[in-house]
Amino acid sequence: MSNLLDNVGQAVKSAISGVVPEAVRARIRPYRKTDISQEQWDQDYAQGKWQHLDNVRQLAHYSVIMGYYLYYRPNSSVLDIGCGHGVLQRRLDAVSYARYVGVDTSQSAIDQASTESDLKTQFFCADAESYIPSGTFDVLIFNESLYYFLSPMDGFTRLARYLSPGGVVIVSMYQKENSRVIWRSLNRIAHPADAVRVINRDGGVWDVKVFPIGNIGGR
Ligand SMILES: C[S@@+](CC[C@H](N)C(=O)[O-])C[C@H]1O[C@@H](n2cnc3c(N)ncnc32)[C@H](O)[C@@H]1O
Repeated sequence: MSNLLDNVGQAVKSAISGVVPEAVRARIRPYRKTDISQEQWDQDYAQGKWQHLDNVRQLAHYSVIMGYYLYYRPNSSVLDIGCGHGVLQRRLDAVSYARYVGVDTSQSAIDQASTESDLKTQFFCADAESYIPSGTFDVLIFNESLYYFLSPMDGFTRLARYLSPGGVVIVSMYQKENSRVIWRSLNRIAHPADAVRVINRDGGVWDVKVFPIGNIGGR
């Protein structure tokens, strides 16, 4: 019976793909997270596979994030969600902040980032989809992390509740199928004050958007 249903499902999919153009199918495809296991993240960070994020060809999207930070809330408190091994923390430290908290699900990434811990800088290994921040923050940053979430919209709206008055959320995502789905969903509940697209010389494309607290619904 289940074989029969699988075959029927496959036949329906083929029939749809024959008549519905790919551009339309892409718009109705459901969100699917980029699936990397906890073990894989730890192994990748331990082996230095994310070191390339320090590379000059990644600079443009970090620079836009930094620009929004400096424009809206310089020297403020920052929650960096999916902070990895601390690339953004080091850039923010160079221009100064009052408080920085980085959260990442990979213990290996947090171990590496934690070499920069001090009185105003803390790193926590936690799943951002259930993490409860201590206090509120002026700036929330989702830098290349939302598309690893099971429910990015729930994660975004839940954590946006920890914004201080006058705060902003900055989101950066590499352009790929699931990030397009997330942007479409985000557009329904939040309006960016600005959005920038950067393309590096390898043809990698990132969209970076900034959302002031007053432009975020559903909080
Ligand atoms: C592409 S890396 C980007 C890291 C960092 N934002 C940077 O630019 O250096 C994505 C990061 O998101 C983290 N991540 C994925 N899912 C997460 C979750 N549910 N909670 C916290 N961190 C998560 C991964 O461990 C990884 O470090």
